[in-house]
Amino acid sequence: MSATQTDHRSDATGPLVAVTGGAGFIGSHTVDRLIEAGCRVIVLDDFSTGKRENLATWAGDERVEILTVNIADGIFAALAPVTARMGPISRIIHLAAQTAVIHSIANPLDDVRVNYAGTVQVLEYARASGVDKVVFASSAAVYGDVTESPVGENAPKKPVSPYGIDKLGSENFLYYYSTVHRVAATALRFFNVYGPRQDPKSPYSGVISIFADRAMAETPLTIFGDGEQTRDFVYVGDVSRIVVDACLSDAGDREAVNVGTGKETTINELARTVIELCGANSTITHAEARPGEILRSLAAVDRADTIFNFRAQVPLAEGLRATLDWARGWPGLNKTA
Ligand code: NAD
Ligand code: UD1
Repeated sequence: MSATQTDHRSDATGPLVAVTGGAGFIGSHTVDRLIEAGCRVIVLDDFSTGKRENLATWAGDERVEILTVNIADGIFAALAPVTARMGPISRIIHLAAQTAVIHSIANPLDDVRVNYAGTVQVLEYARASGVDKVVFASSAAVYGDVTESPVGENAPKKPVSPYGIDKLGSENFLYYYSTVHRVAATALRFFNVYGPRQDPKSPYSGVISIFADRAMAETPLTIFGDGEQTRDFVYVGDVSRIVVDACLSDAGDREAVNVGTGKETTINELARTVIELCGANSTITHAEARPGEILRSLAAVDRADTIFNFRAQVPLAEGLRATLDWARGWPGLNKTA
C-alpha cells in the first residue's frame, strides 16, 4: 500500500456528508473540497450528466463512496447498506437536478419529477434518518424577470420556467422541513456558475462552456436574441467554497442566500472576451431569443457575506482563463479556488 493510501485510511473518520449530483460539474468540485476539509462523502448520482472521470482523484479511496441512484426513485434503499457500514449521514448537499431551463420548458413533468419531487425524496430521508442539515442548490431562476437589480433575496419571486418554479417549490419544502421537522436547511441561489469540468457538449450546456468550445475550434458563436441580456457569472471554485462552508457551519438555517459576484456581463461582451482570450477568428451569429429567457440577472451579495462571510474572489477574466486552460487540457489550473 502506498503512503497516500495509508493516509486515506487514517483520515477516514470525519463527518459523513451525502452529495446528490456529486459526479457533476459543481458536485465534483464540492466533493474535492469536502475531502480537503476532512469529511467522508457518499455521492448519489444517476450519471445522466455527471461523469466518473470528475471523481477520478478519489477512485479507490475509502473516504468516498459512489452510488448510482436516481433520486426521483428515493434514496433510502441505496443508502441503507452503505450507512450500515460507514455510519449515519450527518449532512446532505443536494445538487442533483436536470439543470437546463430550456429542457424544463419542453418537458415540465420531467422537471417536476427530478427537481421538485426529487428534493422531497432527499428531505424525507433527512427527516427519517436524523440528518442535521441539508444544503440545497437553488437558482437565480426563482426570481424570473427581476424588478430590481441587483436582485436581493426578498425580491418578488416570479419564475418564468418550470425549472425556476421547481427550485422555488423546493425552497419552500426546505423551509417546511426545518420549521416542522427540525432539519436545518439552507438554500443557495446560484447565479451562472462556470469553470473547469462544465460539459460543453450539450446544446443545453452553460454558455461559457459552449463559447469556449466553439472559440477553440474557431467555429461561430451563436447568441440567442440581441445579446444584451446579462448574467452574473460566478466561478465554480467560489461556489464550492460557500457550499462546503454552508454545509459544515450551523449558520444559515431557513435562509435562502444568493451566490454571485455582484457584477453583470452581457452575452455580447462575454462572446467578445472569450474570442479574444482564445486568440480565435470565430464569428458571432445571432439566433431567435430563447423562450422563458431572463433578461437581467445580477446578484445582491450582502447576505452571503453576512451569514457565511462569503465574497466571490475570482474575477471573470481569471476564471475564464482557468476554464480555457482546462478545456485545452493544460495541467495545473484545474483549481478549486
Ligand atoms: P450537472 O449537470 O453537472 O450536475 C447535476 C448532477 O446531477 C449530474 O451529476 C447528474 O448526473 C446528476 N443528476 C441529474 N438528475 C439526477 C437524478 N434524477 N438522480 C441522481 N442524480 C441526478 O450541473 P451543475 O451545473 O453542476 O448543477 C448542480 C446543481 O446546481 C443543480 O441543482 C443545478 O440546478 C444548480 N445550479 C446550477 C447553476 C449553473 O450555472 N451551473 C446555476 C444555478 C443552479
Ligand atoms: C443557467 C443554468 C441554470 C441556472 C441559471 C441561474 C446552465 C445550463 N443553466 O441558466 O441551471 O439555474 O443559470 O441563473 O448552466 N446563450 C447564448 N448562446 C449559447 C448558449 C446560451 O446566447 O450558445 C445565452 C442564453 O440565451 C442566456 C445566456 O446565454 O441568455 C445564459 O444561458 P445558459 O448558460 O444556458 O444559462 P441560463 O439559461 O441563464
